[in-house]
Amino acid sequence: HRHLLGIAGLSLPDIHALMSLAEREIAVSLGRDKKKAALKGRTQINLFFEASTRTQASFELAGKRLGADVMNMSVANSSVKKGETLIDTAMTLNAMRPDILVVRHHAAGAVALLAQKVGCSVVNAGDGAHEHPTQALLDALTIHRRKGRVARLTVAICGDVLHSRVARSNILLLNALGADVRVVAPSTLLPNGIEQMGVRVFHDMDRGLEGADVVMMLRLQRERMEGSFVPSVREYFRLFGLDAQRLSRAEPDALVMHPGPMNRGVEIASEVADGPQSVIEEQVEMGVAVRMAVMEWMMGNEETAS
Ligand code: CP
Repeated sequence: HRHLLGIAGLSLPDIHALMSLAEREIAVSLGRDKKKAALKGRTQINLFFEASTRTQASFELAGKRLGADVMNMSVANSSVKKGETLIDTAMTLNAMRPDILVVRHHAAGAVALLAQKVGCSVVNAGDGAHEHPTQALLDALTIHRRKGRVARLTVAICGDVLHSRVARSNILLLNALGADVRVVAPSTLLPNGIEQMGVRVFHDMDRGLEGADVVMMLRLQRERMEGSFVPSVREYFRLFGLDAQRLSRAEPDALVMHPGPMNRGVEIASEVADGPQSVIEEQVEMGVAVRMAVMEWMMGNEETAS
């Protein structure tokens, strides 16, 4: 079975196949008739052990637009609450013969582990601080639509990189597509050895934004921080928040991105989040097309998809 566990497992031809398939899915999502029959007769189960608005809703819509039967497993009301393990839960669902399992889990590596056990295709919808591959693909698609290319663009990924699976997947994908990637964060919010991922590191927000074509903000994930370092919101916004004045350091036509959910007034000011350079809603829109593309690709439809 073909899985999508991370950008790390994708070849460049895979990435290009997914991106061009996603471009074609946009037409389906924008059309009046939003339905195709590509996954007719297939069963998709969404299994989210962590909260989600965008990812879960768009995977559900993507499956339905492709004609699949989609089931959302409500973990909060499941036997997980009675102590059933991740693997036992997944094997129980596997016995009902799904074709696609979409999984989000708080532990890095949990989705890959599960993919080894079940007899269907598995998509990583976010595993701990490890990867969120469909988010990176939808971000690249958004950039490509707006700028006509990804190669040679300067992308500044700003904020809580340490806890961000979105940042990791984006660094891998943007580098593979030839972008010049920077991370802008206090050293306490950067993983050790981040330079080895092929990024330039900035600790000063104003300098990190200079000349950027894309400013990608990250949510401050306070729920993943333990006592020792939880920055004060006011201090964080003063040093690393994106407001209009700070954004003026970037290129005048720089795109402002955020994977969501946003903490307004913490990492981003409303004047920027809702401003003319923001493509945050377009990212959400692209999310449906990308997830349609991923599921068609996993089912081996990339040649015939239209
Ligand atoms: N960007 C993202 O993954 O959002 P959700 O947590 O709402 O799915």
